[in-house]
Amino acid sequence: MTQPLRNDTLLRALLREPTEYTPVWLMRQAGRYLPEYVETRARAGSFMRLCKTPALACEATLQPLARFRLDAAILFSDILTVPDAMGLGLYFAENEGPRFERPLREEWAIRDLEAPDPWEHLRYVMDAAAEVRRALADAAPLIGFAGSPFTLACYMVEGGAGGGEFRHLKTMLYDRPDLLHRILAVNAEAVARSLNAQIESGAQAAMLFDTWGGSLTGPAFREFSLMYIQQVVANLIREKDGRRVPTIVFVKGGGAWLEAIADCGCDAVGLDWTADLGAARARVGGRVALQGNLDPSALLASPEAIVREARAVLDAFGPGDTGHVFNLGHGVSRFTPPEHVGALVDAVHEYSRAGRAK
Ligand code: CP3
Repeated sequence: MTQPLRNDTLLRALLREPTEYTPVWLMRQAGRYLPEYVETRARAGSFMRLCKTPALACEATLQPLARFRLDAAILFSDILTVPDAMGLGLYFAENEGPRFERPLREEWAIRDLEAPDPWEHLRYVMDAAAEVRRALADAAPLIGFAGSPFTLACYMVEGGAGGGEFRHLKTMLYDRPDLLHRILAVNAEAVARSLNAQIESGAQAAMLFDTWGGSLTGPAFREFSLMYIQQVVANLIREKDGRRVPTIVFVKGGGAWLEAIADCGCDAVGLDWTADLGAARARVGGRVALQGNLDPSALLASPEAIVREARAVLDAFGPGDTGHVFNLGHGVSRFTPPEHVGALVDAVHEYSRAGRAK
């Protein structure tokens, strides 16, 4: 590995402290586009066994860092481990994505829902985080994560991805908002506890994924998603071992509500590729760092096109020596040729380093 021994560029950029270049990591950087991941997953037997076996989750976490000069590791796990720990019975049907054996629709089940103790029911996540942190030996920071209370509720009520329409969840939102609020309050508690346990176990930054917040109206987004994100962020450990633990909030399709998201208490906001980084930067006015936002599909094109598009993202953010973390606008596609990721990472480093020298 050619990683410098101590690389805290990501943490500094998230806190808007000066950096020598723009740090880069990718959502879903460990995954099916890497043949070594496919091999590890086969050895585990299933995606969930991979998540639940700390040694293998650690192996998967480190695979992209062995290949590319990435500036962060993200713990290999899944946002749906939290509802699984609540007893909903998570499984992955072949080619159908995640499913729950017991979707949450009955009033009695919603009343009975409780936030699990992560040290007991998500022990495998904490063990994996601790193992990764030891293995990294400060070569790069470790990012812990969780789903937003609302995005978790989408899967919990629907029992799966629901084709992205969320018929059951939206019916509940309009007919029985009290029930949805009860689920969201429990989720907020569960998510804060899980993230804090990850931080105690070695995670140096925390990211919240609100994949489905963008499917709401503006008022509903504030009431059912942002309010609970705010609650989670307010309850997080903000300093560990004398260092601030930065928080990142990513709302896919949330560009219209950028100012409100930036005011939720987080240190950085993740943007999907529909947002203009320069305009977003002007709108948040230095209150938070920004993370994003290359279209993941650009990684399917030639390395020349990738370098051009990466530079366009850096140019869109504009001059300065901090406040931007390069990422995709959503996860890496499984059809991405691995060497294209290498071309992207190197292009971001080289071009941003040259820009600092100007
Ligand atoms: O980013 C990383 O490298 C860390 C690991 C990570 C995974 N999922 C691994 C994974 C993270 C941060 C997630 C988050 C996640 N999981 C989200 C939020 C971000 C997003 O993508 O919108 C959501 C909605 C989920 C739920 C989930 N897990 C879905 C919808 C799927 C199926 C999608 C698919 O690509 O098949 C998963 C499975 C999953 N989680 C995979 C990986 C690498 C693929 C599983 C496999 O090996 O077959």
